[in-house]
Order: sequence, then C-alpha cells, then structure tokens
Amino acid sequence: MSEMILEGGRPLLGCVRIQGSKNAALPMMAAAVLHEGEVALHNCPRIADVFSMERILRSLGAETCWEDHTLRICCRNLHGFEIDREDAASMRSSVMLMGSLLGRQGCVRIAYPGGCTIGERPIDLHLKVFQAMSARVEEQGDLLEARTPDCLWGTRICFPISSVGATENGILAAVKARGTTLLENCALEPEITHLCHFLQAMGAEIGGIGTRRLRIRGVRILRDAQFWVPPDRIVAGTYLYAAAATRGKVELLDVPVDEIASILRVYEKMGGQWECNGGKLKADASGVRRMVEYTRTQCYPGFPTDMQSVLMAVLLTIPGKGRIREEIFEDRLKTAGELKKLGGRIHTAGRDAWIIGGGPLTGARVEARDLRGGAALAVAALAASGTTVIGSAGFVERGYEAIDADLAGLGARIEMR
Ligand code: EPZ
Repeated sequence: MSEMILEGGRPLLGCVRIQGSKNAALPMMAAAVLHEGEVALHNCPRIADVFSMERILRSLGAETCWEDHTLRICCRNLHGFEIDREDAASMRSSVMLMGSLLGRQGCVRIAYPGGCTIGERPIDLHLKVFQAMSARVEEQGDLLEARTPDCLWGTRICFPISSVGATENGILAAVKARGTTLLENCALEPEITHLCHFLQAMGAEIGGIGTRRLRIRGVRILRDAQFWVPPDRIVAGTYLYAAAATRGKVELLDVPVDEIASILRVYEKMGGQWECNGGKLKADASGVRRMVEYTRTQCYPGFPTDMQSVLMAVLLTIPGKGRIREEIFEDRLKTAGELKKLGGRIHTAGRDAWIIGGGPLTGARVEARDLRGGAALAVAALAASGTTVIGSAGFVERGYEAIDADLAGLGARIEMR
C-alpha cells in the first residue's frame, strides 16, 4: 500500500475544488442495477471504492465507461446475482447491491461486506428489511443468499435505530417492489436525499424525501437518467479543518455549505471565521485558538462520526482540555494511538477521548488504520514540525480522489509514493 509523506509547520493558503461525494456516488451506482438501460453520473469521484463498485457491476454483466468525471453505467444486459467474495469484502457499500439485485433479479448471493474496521458493523437491519418484503435470507458461514418467491412486496418498516445503509437498502429494494413501502425512522444523511432524487430522475415514485418517513410506490419500468453527484461534505470538512490545524486561509469551491452546518459550528467555536457566496467557502483560520471542550458525534444533522478523528487532530493544536465522544461506532478512536506518535496527548476510555492540546507535534512514521483516520493523520502532520510518513495511505485513497494534489494546491508539501 502507498505512503504519504508530508512536511508540516506551515499555514495552508490557497484554493481547492471539492470532489464529488463518495457516499452519494456508491449507492447511486448500486441503484443503476435496477434499470435495464443506461445512467450517467457526472462529477463522479475517481476513487478506489468507486472503482471497486464498478468492478462488481461489470462482473454482473453491466457495461461501464468513463469520460473524465462522468461514469456511464449500462445494465441492459446485466445477468448476474452473485458478488465475488473478495469484491464484497473490499468495501462496505457492496451491501447496497443486495437491495437493487433483489429488486431486479429476485435473488442475490454475497459475502459479508468489508469496509473500515471502526466497529462490528452488522447488517441485521438490512436483512430484516428484505425479509419484511418477503425475501428469504439464508446464511452459510459468511455467505448470504437472499431470494424472493416471485418478487418483493411493499410493506411498512420502522427502523429501530438510524442507519444510513439500511435506509438506502430499503429504498433500493422498494423501488420496484409490488405495492407501496413505508419506511419509518429513516436516517437523514444528505446522501439518502441525493439517492432519492437520482431514483426520481430514473422514474421512481418516492415521497417524504428529506424526512424520517419515506413512502415508495413500486414501479415496473425505470428510464435512462443522468445526475450530478453532489460535492463531498466530509472532504470539505477535512480541508476546512486542515486549514484550522495550520491557522491558514483557504478558499474551498463547490462546498455543500447546507450539509456542513455542524462542522462549521465547531470550527467557529475554535475561533475560525468563514463566509460563503454560492458554493465558495472562504475560511480564515488564523484566529483559531479556543479549545472545544466537548463534542459528541451524532446522526445527521449532528456532528458527523466521519469527522471525529479529523477534529481530534485539530484539537491537538489548541491549548486546553477537550473531550470527544464517539456515539455511532464502538471502535472508532484507534487513530488516537497513531496521533500520539506525533506527540499528541490523548487518553481514550470506552467511547471517549480526552485531548490535552497545545503541546508540540513532531513528524514521525505513523500508520493509517481506516479512511478518515488516515485523513486525520495528514491533518496532524500538516501542523507538526518536520516530516511525517503515513503508511497504508491506500486507505485514504478509498475516499479522497487527490488529497495530495488538493493539499499541495493549498501550499502543503506532500507526496504519495
Ligand atoms: C455509512 O455507513 C457511511 N458509509 C459511513 O461512512 C458513515 O460513517 C456512516 O454511514 C454513519 O454516518 C457509506 O455511506 C458508504 P450506519 P453505514 O448503518 O451505512 C449500526 C466513511 O468513512 N448498524 O448508519 O455502514 C452500525 O453498527 C464511512 O465514508 C447496525 O447495528 O453506517 C452503527 O453503529 C465510514 N445494524 C450504526 O448502526 C445494521 O444493520 C450506524 O451505522 C446497520 C447498522
């Protein structure tokens, strides 16, 4: 796996455009399976997880091609329903194909999905959705097979907890089910809204978009569609917090400002300033100096769990004592161990991390353990004096299309090898 080398100790200055959203593009790619025709996703990020999903679609008989950042997917001749074990294990989003393959083929065979090791990450809620819609699900070891007697049937499903993926799979399964499906206590993450808008462009009938109550009336036929993948709110948050960690001044283009309110609120608490016109976010982080004493990760619109380790990196640069509580994933604090190698003073216990910020950070060799943790190490390295080498940087490339070029565009000294 590749390594990222960073020379820290200088403020970020400059302008960068935010890439398309990984977590919006992946379920949209799974949705393409539902249609016996072609869709085009513009502004699609060219990242490892998208390429993995593309490989799976092609293994099922889909045809795909790229034109710059436009990904065209034709599932007219899609015939498969079995997903290669290695592909399934390569990322979490392979599970999205269960809903769309059941909707299209009436069956799916897949190994348990992979993804960042940030907790157990069960898929029980996904499977309960399919069973409620009359699919039979069998598990043989880590292999799953789901099959419908004739088709999926609409029904009422109330999620016991907020789950992004289970909500998305419920939507995908309901689009071509017989009758109407009512999904209650849905997650509210923006990627779900974007998926619904894409499905509507394909001819799906969905009501209640943007609320916890979605009503989907099954349709028989969908149509060709094209869609602009929205910008990635977590990538935008990452670069904003990299500016905060280095007291820089940056301009971020194509920022989904409405989707990062909680990230901006914490940035303001630190003393960061920003203004926005259109999709351009101008951030002046030279005044960042106030410790944020307590932050807890929550479902949207709360502070996102995907920004938790990045925030930890920023707090290391601010004098004072801060606490971060990870409420979503039970094992998502392990980046603290790597941040300590840079001189960070962090104590973790259970779901809490206590940070004593303001001490010196010095470059060292560290290891990325997951996608967002790797990005957090880059943020800390930019604030550290000297050189940092981040091993297993391939984790970061799963979600950041060109983090080296992006950060270099902001004046960072960074290279991948
Ligand atoms: C999505 O993961 C995102 N991934 C994650 O981003 C993100 O952190 C997460 O949502 C929370 O916002 C993609 O969209 C590809 P969940 P997902 O189902 O769908 C439990 C990144 O870095 N749960 O909302 O897997 C689960 O264990 C990634 O881009 C069950 O118990 O998250 C967790 O505690 C990391 N049973 C909680 O729900 C289930 O069947 C929320 O998980 C499903 C989930």
